[in-house]
Amino acid sequence: MTSNDQSLREKNIVFTGFMGVGKTSIGKAVAKKLYRDFVDIDEEIETKHNMATTDIFKEIGEQAFREEEKNMIADFCKSKLKIISVGGGAFLHEETREICLSECIVFFLDLSWESWQDRISLIIDSRPVLQGKSIDEIKSLFYDRQSIYEGHHSKVKTDNLVIEEVADNVVHALKTAWDIYEPN
Ligand code: S3P
Repeated sequence: MTSNDQSLREKNIVFTGFMGVGKTSIGKAVAKKLYRDFVDIDEEIETKHNMATTDIFKEIGEQAFREEEKNMIADFCKSKLKIISVGGGAFLHEETREICLSECIVFFLDLSWESWQDRISLIIDSRPVLQGKSIDEIKSLFYDRQSIYEGHHSKVKTDNLVIEEVADNVVHALKTAWDIYEPN
């Protein structure tokens, strides 16, 4: 049975979106609500190297990190019933976008620039891609990246919502789709 034959209810759920939008926290909350395992791709890569992402970028470089990220996502896409948070740059690889879109249900967590910039001090130290950039450069990156997130099955607005609210909205969207396309 290939994963394309998988029922909608068994498919992995992937969270994509810019750094710091809450993919990990929201993914964990959704996993808890659906009694599923949660996988954070960055954490998997960090565990493999026993290093923080910033050090991995210094040690092996961004390109090698991206390659590992792509391969790891492809491997997890072969499983089922997982909730997967992918790094904000993972969808730069067309192959990754395609595999996630064909094998999984992809949610884009959409946070506005205005709300996002309030979070910058919380995330900058752990995000090598943001380091050494001016706020204008980060803003350009934020807007440039939006096009890669356009490949999704569902967009969830997260402005002014707490983690539980977004997770409830995701679960509601999933259950609605499951009931429509795969009624019991
Ligand atoms: C990156 C996002 C990070 C991490 C790495 C690169 C990016 O993940 O993969 O620092 O290029 O957007 P998060 O989106 O989980 O922060």
